[in-house]
Amino acid sequence: MATSSQDLLEAQAHVWNHIGSYINSMALRSAVELRIPDVIHKHGKPITLSQLADALCINTAKTNGLYRLMRILVHSKFFDKVIISHQEEREEAYSLTRASRLLIRDEPLSLVPLALTLTDPAFIGPFHQMTEWFRDECPSAFFTTNGMDHWEFAAKDERLNKGFNEAMAADARFMGSILVQDCKHVFKGLKTMVDVAGGTGEVSKAVAGAFSGLKCIVLDLPHVVARMEGSENVRFVSGDMFEFIPPADAVLLKWIMHNWMDEDCIKILRKCKEAIAESKINGKKVIIVDMVVDEEKQAHELTETHLLMDVLMLAHYPGKERTEREWAKLFAVAGFKNYKITSTLGVNSIIEVFP
Ligand SMILES: C[S@@+](CC[C@H](N)C(=O)[O-])C[C@H]1O[C@@H](n2cnc3c(N)ncnc32)[C@H](O)[C@@H]1O
Repeated sequence: MATSSQDLLEAQAHVWNHIGSYINSMALRSAVELRIPDVIHKHGKPITLSQLADALCINTAKTNGLYRLMRILVHSKFFDKVIISHQEEREEAYSLTRASRLLIRDEPLSLVPLALTLTDPAFIGPFHQMTEWFRDECPSAFFTTNGMDHWEFAAKDERLNKGFNEAMAADARFMGSILVQDCKHVFKGLKTMVDVAGGTGEVSKAVAGAFSGLKCIVLDLPHVVARMEGSENVRFVSGDMFEFIPPADAVLLKWIMHNWMDEDCIKILRKCKEAIAESKINGKKVIIVDMVVDEEKQAHELTETHLLMDVLMLAHYPGKERTEREWAKLFAVAGFKNYKITSTLGVNSIIEVFP
């Protein structure tokens, strides 16, 4: 069947859109580096282009460039454009949206470290090696690029270690605040919890702060927890989760399983099962905060985020994002009897797994 010009042009537009998709990430990075959300927030009301250019101290010859950067970020819903009246003149001005409010620095729920780290050249580099990785013997494109895996590299490279830990801490602070507000039932009745590979312990701090009497241990690699100071209810322990997980009523695995392939996940889950074996409470469990892919039932944008994260895991670790069926198989093989998924955490779900 002959292809019409219209079909060809639509196909061309689709190709162009995807060739340019990375520019969305880069435009966002530029806005965060320039601190545009901070400036608008500090201004306290919608800001005009010239006020924004002044506040950012950019070269005035580049003001039109700023207008164009803002135009795509308005299109992608990071800023709103509103009309303001000024001395009888009407002018366009920019205000923050729900998304850019999360990109204000020094706010408790700020995602700035996450946005900067995941768009850093060190993070994007491995994607340029994916084709080579498909042909070589390396476990990930990150390994092809750097000659070692992510965790080994982080132990040696202070810049990546710091940036990555700060990025994870930002997400953990954000999720911690949602968990203690909306998922109280998950932590009710627990006296002890181990936050396995818990990074800088932000989720544990939130949970221990919200549930008095709950004591948390954060287990992570030495280069992550070496300088961390604990408190009465949150203690840091350095170690390897494949070797030993301290005993507790519950084990938390937030954003861990998606970094590993099935065989490693089963090893981790078996160690978790040993860790909760001696607990005397009713409802001892493993609590997983991670993504559950459902291409049929979930909204298009959510599935796209899951699939983007899946390819990030492929390129960097090797890990994967899983469907419910894939999760269920892991739990069964690791010897767990039951699980419950709550899908109310945006891109993440909470999965309680019972022995
Ligand atoms: C994706 S981060 C998640 C951190 C934290 N759970 C969060 O959500 O913010 C994965 C964590 O696994 C840790 N990790 C990797 N291998 C580990 C191991 N063998 N034993 C303990 N922790 C490990 C890393 O250091 C890192 O902090």
